[in-house]
Amino acid sequence: MSKVTVVGAGNVGATCTNVLLFNEVADQVVMLDVKEGLSEGKALDMLQTASLLGFDSKIVGCTNDYAQTADSDVVVITSGIPRKPGMTREELIGVNAGIVKSVAENILKFSPKAIIVVVSNPMDTMTYLALKTTGLPKNKIIGMGGTLDSSRFKCYLSKALNANPTEVEGLVIGGHGDTTMIPLTRFATYKGRPVTDILGKATLDKVVADTMVGGATLTSLLGTSAWYAPGAAAAYLVESIIHDQKKIIPCCVSLEGEYGQNNICIGVPVVIGKNGVEEIIDYKLNAEENALFEKSAAVVRGTNDVLNDIKVL
Ligand code: LAC
Repeated sequence: MSKVTVVGAGNVGATCTNVLLFNEVADQVVMLDVKEGLSEGKALDMLQTASLLGFDSKIVGCTNDYAQTADSDVVVITSGIPRKPGMTREELIGVNAGIVKSVAENILKFSPKAIIVVVSNPMDTMTYLALKTTGLPKNKIIGMGGTLDSSRFKCYLSKALNANPTEVEGLVIGGHGDTTMIPLTRFATYKGRPVTDILGKATLDKVVADTMVGGATLTSLLGTSAWYAPGAAAAYLVESIIHDQKKIIPCCVSLEGEYGQNNICIGVPVVIGKNGVEEIIDYKLNAEENALFEKSAAVVRGTNDVLNDIKVL
């Protein structure tokens, strides 16, 4: 029996749960929140879509009752506050670090074998915090950022190409920040053709810029951060783990020498399967891409250092 827990029944957690149910990714999904009744209510609401949407996964909602999450195969952590218009993801660290640390510790008590997918922001630093706090092996801690950023990249590429998004490939690596993410245009393709052969530099530059502020654009439109694509991106990762799909997914993982980095969690292309991180793929970055990656890693490291300053690590 496969079991997934989603911690946080806010917009992102509930959307992730909904996608997991709709796609029948696991036999059972548990949604847990600190707010009394929220998970129970949303779980019941989702259950009432089962006959309409045609799924038969079980769904349980609970308030802070970690015993219900016992023996989960995968746990998605979405807890914490979202950003408001004008805020960076990094500004959330003070509040979210304490929350993510205690959630990770509670999860581990009941699901010592779980693979953890981190969604909370600042995502790269929260992934690093989860790795350090739980002491789990590095294959079991995965941050969701690059999965979402790549789906935004493909969205803007498909608009520029006037193409079906499912026929467009694109990867975003680096940190999950407005200035740290790196959409790799050199590797982006439309039905196998390099997009650099089809789109001009100005158009591609605009696609890259729109991708990088993809989250901020939505935050200013919605007054809070986005949830449909973030929730679906987390579910996409979970599906590749539970069904051992071995998809190559850009996501935030611990690097030990790969891409020239150590002691950091940051976005790179990874084979995701039943063991979580199965292989980090080396895309052989050119000098320009490498320089961007180094700059991005330096910024992520700076945010990680705050964990010491605020004494969470
Ligand atoms: C975003 C948030 C979830 O990029 O980080 O929308």
